Order: sequence, then structure tokens, then C-alpha cells
Amino acid sequence: MYVCLCQGVTDGQIREAIYDGCCSYRDVRETLGVASQCGKCACLAKQVVRETLGDIQGSQAASRPGAFIAA
Ligand code: FES
Repeated sequence: MYVCLCQGVTDGQIREAIYDGCCSYRDVRETLGVASQCGKCACLAKQVVRETLGDIQGSQAASRPGAFIAA
């Protein structure tokens, strides 16, 4: 699905950028140029970034049981 029409950026590209090392919305924006023109895609782009980072943290917690348990 296209997230940013101005730059032609899809949700898949945003996820790929995060898996390739981007660790924040700012990183994704600088890497892909998302939300750098009209800015209408910013909310959706942030949502995709948040969800992807959450998925990564969830999968890391699942692969290391007990690693993120608060004391
Ligand atoms: S839709 Fe992303 S900057 Fe316009």
C-alpha cells in the first residue's frame, strides 16, 4: 500500500528500511524522503514505523524469554 504518494513510498519500503537499520520515524524520513513534500502522509508513516518497531521488539522478546521482564 502506498503511504506517501508524493515520494511513491509504500508501507513495505518503510518496513524494509527499519529492518535495514532505521530505528525511528526521523531515520525513515531521512532515508526514504517520506513526508518531505505535502506532509499528508506523516501520520500514517509514523503509524507504520511504530507498528514495525513494536513487531521487532515483540519478536526479540519472544526469542529471548525473560529478557524484557520488569523487575
Ligand atoms: S504524500 Fe507524503 S509528502 Fe505528500
